[in-house]
Formats: sequence, structure tokens, C-alpha cells
Amino acid sequence: MCTKNLPYFLSGIVVRGFGRGSKALGIPTANLEDEVVNNLPNDFKTGVYYGWACLDRQVYKMVASIGWNPFYKNEKKTVEVHLLHKFENDFYGKCIKVIFVDYIRPERDFTSEEELIRAIHDDIAFAEEQLQQSDKLAYKDDQFFTE
Ligand SMILES: Cc1cc2nc3c(=O)[nH]c(=O)nc-3n(C[C@H](O)[C@H](O)[C@H](O)COP(=O)(O)O)c2cc1C
Repeated sequence: MCTKNLPYFLSGIVVRGFGRGSKALGIPTANLEDEVVNNLPNDFKTGVYYGWACLDRQVYKMVASIGWNPFYKNEKKTVEVHLLHKFENDFYGKCIKVIFVDYIRPERDFTSEEELIRAIHDDIAFAEEQLQQSDKLAYKDDQFFTE
């Protein structure tokens, strides 16, 4: 999929979301501070992305959702990143660096939470596969993560 602005690099502080990610979905997300959301380019397409994220100097695969979560009808736009790694603790207040490598799909509404969960698991499987490809894998070592 050809989307403007990609790859897109951003860094920001992790803040509390609505708390549904871990509890209702079993898919914890790091919500980024308002400043990051407000500073996205006006033409940055909302939807689901994949790429890499750096936390505490470790780089992880990630999937992310940008927009209003139509299933939950949020009134506020969010940028939420799910790292493909199991963490014991949350990381509120930490700085996270993210490279959005490519776009997967628009955010959608679903008829049940199970459907939303299934869609996110498909996004994760797709991201896992795509990020093994050498052109996408290369961003893992990008100097953005070490500077
Ligand atoms: C990869 C990914 C894809 C997502 N796709 C959708 C979607 O299509 N529709 C939607 O309403 N929310 C989508 N979400 C957002 C979830 O609804 C959201 O992460 C969840 O509600 C947790 O939000 P909270 O951290 O604010 O509690 C997606 C999240 C991720 C990480």
C-alpha cells in the first residue's frame, strides 16, 4: 500500500488510555501523549500500521492504531502502540520511539469485541511476517533508535 509520510518517525511519552487494551482485549497498548497526536501531519492517514518501537534501548516489533477507535466511538483521537513482546510492567511516563514502516488497513467498527480481537491478531501476524523482509527489517537498526 502506498501511503504518504512513510516511514514516519516519532517519539513521545506514554500516557494512560482508557485501560481497555489489557483488560478487555488482552492486547495492551501504549497511548502516546496529546502533543504527539496533535503534531501528526494533517494528511497523516488514520488506521493501523506496523513497524518498530524502542523502549529502554530495546527495539521491538510493533503494531499501532491511529484514530478514534470506531468500535468504542472515542471522541478523542489517539496514537496507540502495541509492542510484540510480553512485559511484566506497564510503561506509563516512559519515552518511546516509534518508526511507522507501513500501513495495514483503516480502523473499522465491529459487531463484537471478539471480532476486534481477531482483527488485531491478524494485524500482528501480518506485521510479524512483513518485518522479516530485509527492507523492513533494516529500520530495526536505524540510527533514530540510538541517537
Ligand atoms: C493493531 C491494532 C489495531 C486496532 N484496530 C482497531 C479497529 O479497527 N477499530 C477499533 O475500534 N479499534 C482498534 N484498535 C484500538 C483498540 O480498540 C484499542 O487499542 C483498545 O480499545 C484499547 O484502548 P485503550 O488503551 O485506550 O484502553 C486497534 C488497536 C491495535 C493495537
